[in-house]
Amino acid sequence: MPEVADKKMDAAEEDRCVTGIDGLDRILNGGIPRGNTVLITGSCGTGKTTLSFEFLLHGALNDENSLFVSVTENWEKLLKNVIPYDFFDERLLKTKKLIMVDLGSIYQKLGLEKAEFNVEDIDIIVRAVGDIVREWNIKRLVIDSITSICFQLKTKEKIRDFILSFGKNLSEAGCTCILVSEISPGEQSYSMYGVEEAIADGIVLMANLERRGDLLRTLQVVKMRGTMHSRAKYVLDLTPVGVLLVPLLKGGSVAGGG
Ligand SMILES: Nc1ncnc2c1ncn2[C@@H]1O[C@H](COP(=O)(O)OP(=O)(O)O)[C@@H](O)[C@H]1O
Ligand SMILES: [Mg+2]
Repeated sequence: MPEVADKKMDAAEEDRCVTGIDGLDRILNGGIPRGNTVLITGSCGTGKTTLSFEFLLHGALNDENSLFVSVTENWEKLLKNVIPYDFFDERLLKTKKLIMVDLGSIYQKLGLEKAEFNVEDIDIIVRAVGDIVREWNIKRLVIDSITSICFQLKTKEKIRDFILSFGKNLSEAGCTCILVSEISPGEQSYSMYGVEEAIADGIVLMANLERRGDLLRTLQVVKMRGTMHSRAKYVLDLTPVGVLLVPLLKGGSVAGGG
């Protein structure tokens, strides 16, 4: 019965947050399951901020309000430095389809400018971000980076508590969330404190790979709850038309490459 098939298709689309990054959507069989909290992890310069920002841009362009919470640098500086995507449109900011905030300014409003957060503080921060998400009907959120927040949480228990209640709060609002995680090059674990990776619904690992005198960027979906996905390693190209992904062939050459 075609009608039933159509309904199934609609449901599938509703269930998925289509990243808009074609290669990634293909790896994920259609996108990130909606409401998932995904850790994008890698050492510096591997493209985490670039990829996360593009994820939000596609959302904003498709009527899914998107929020970038910048933790490590001022968002205006970030906008100046990020790849000038062909599809970036200043109006997305004016119309609040894309909202950029510094976590520091949220802390300031909440009177939370301190070196270490306690359990009550966690509650206040989670609620404050949750309120922004609901007020602006945010469907995609990026925190860049969670590692800096974890630094102020200090203990594994508080990090667990924070990510769990944060993820739950956002998932209930139908918001799909990317947490950027910074690790050292060559790090064996997927996150600095080891807790982030255990709690996240998904882990996308980004890395540098030296090949014949070239430093390639790679991406691998390690885990993603709620969907089948490839776990192969892909080579990443950061371009003004977006992030491009091609499979890394065994032996180290790039598919389609010379
Ligand atoms: N304006 C730009 N034009 C061209 N390439 C850029 C631009 N900004 C960043 N890049 C590329 O992106 C890389 C940084 O990626 P980024 O997403 O900031 O990494 P990460 O967040 O993992 O540290 C740079 O090393 C550079 O190759
Ligand atoms: Mg970054």
